[in-house]
Amino acid sequence: SAPRPTDLVVFGGTGDLSMRKLLPSLYLLDRDGHLHPSTRVIAVSRDGLTDADLRHKADAAVQGHHAVQVPETVVLRRFLDRLSHITVDVGGDPTGWTELADTLDPDRDRVFYLAVPPMISGAICRGLADAGLVTADSRVVMEKPLGRDLASAQAVNAEVGAIFTEEQTYRIDHYLGKETVQNLLVLRFANVFLEPLWNSRWIDHVQITAAETVGVGGRKGYYDTAGAMRDMVQNHLLQLLCLTAMEPPASYDREAVRDEKLKVLQALKPLAGENVREDTVRGRYGSGVLHGTEVLGYLDEPGGPTDSTTETYVALRAEIANWRWAGVPFYLRTGKRMDRARSEIVIRFRDVPHTIFPGAATGGGSLVIRLQPDEGIHLTMLAKTPGAGALRLRSVPLELSFADTFATRSPEAYERLLMDVLSGDSTLFMRRDEVEAAWRWTDPVIAAWSDLDLVPETYPAGSAGPAGADRLIGRTGRTWYEEE
Ligand code: BG6
Repeated sequence: SAPRPTDLVVFGGTGDLSMRKLLPSLYLLDRDGHLHPSTRVIAVSRDGLTDADLRHKADAAVQGHHAVQVPETVVLRRFLDRLSHITVDVGGDPTGWTELADTLDPDRDRVFYLAVPPMISGAICRGLADAGLVTADSRVVMEKPLGRDLASAQAVNAEVGAIFTEEQTYRIDHYLGKETVQNLLVLRFANVFLEPLWNSRWIDHVQITAAETVGVGGRKGYYDTAGAMRDMVQNHLLQLLCLTAMEPPASYDREAVRDEKLKVLQALKPLAGENVREDTVRGRYGSGVLHGTEVLGYLDEPGGPTDSTTETYVALRAEIANWRWAGVPFYLRTGKRMDRARSEIVIRFRDVPHTIFPGAATGGGSLVIRLQPDEGIHLTMLAKTPGAGALRLRSVPLELSFADTFATRSPEAYERLLMDVLSGDSTLFMRRDEVEAAWRWTDPVIAAWSDLDLVPETYPAGSAGPAGADRLIGRTGRTWYEEE
């Protein structure tokens, strides 16, 4: 649909997320014609910046992200002209709210993007309501992690829900905006060949990995209160698990899709108490060498406690207790400062029930859905190696690379999701009950870690993670997938 004139108000508009992701993505949307000519971006913060300061900062942020060359510089200038800054003291001096009220145009859609810690979302929403700024055409966008456990998530949802309806509320999980993630749904539900195999009869297990080479960077203050479980597993990894495991929805409609994802979360077998010792691994990076450079261990990273017990790595074994998946382990793992950055979903098929090639290699093959880098889908299968003599089989890949197959550039997750917010489509956003169901499952794991005093196992930065993760999957004779 054609873009509508919108006032996009970004709280935390001068912060890290805004500079690293939101403004560069909005610029690309503008360049590609997805912003209405009169749409404006109003950054709100406590920083007291002038519009010129903000534009200067945004200019550097966009160019740091994306090489802007002539003739695109004209577009960049046009984009920067859309930006302005307002200083608002949430919960304090009301002047800023009045200024915001004077700035907003009553005839436009309003999007309030809360790029702030979730604990102040409620206060901002009340401020907006008190200043009379919430119209029927308003939307609110919230970032993850939403809260730090079920109780705090419920509190934030209730505070925001007192001002905005559920339909007006967009909870971002940027993994849902990744091209390959949407392609997973297409692969499963626009093709006929996978569905008959997509169950415990033919699938041995599933692995979902999100490995990063980056450390905590300048975010230790936040990260130390979260850890990998709250930062990645509760949201990104569980969302990937939902899309992999969900039943076919009757339509690509926001409620239909989200209903099916919710059912998966509700069917997750609880992991609690002693099971947590067996089925989860926590890790924390020590110092090490990453691609030839020595890097600090987590404890020595600046900006947070040096005696922390926060994990930077989690591996766990989950199970979905329903007819399709009973008995199929879903292995999830995520970590920072790993040897290699990659995010992928691996479906490992079962071996054939009976082999007619005795002595030759066996193996059920894997379907790999790669989110990054090199977005693509590949299927490994056994093939005969050429030649007479003894029959030899080898595992070979069938590759689909999106970059090679499609000439068009894949938009980044935030571009896609911002466009959806602007056009009012919340299919790729999390519903309140989904977020809460995810916390309901992760809370007991985090509680058991503390009850059982399970401290993170150190792994060297630049390695494949803690040895415990190999033991976790190895217990049943399985191994983590490695590209051949
Ligand atoms: C964010 C986490 O949600 O996702 C970060 O807070 C993490 O810690 C990031 O680095 C990873 O996103 P991506 O898109 O780089 O895989």
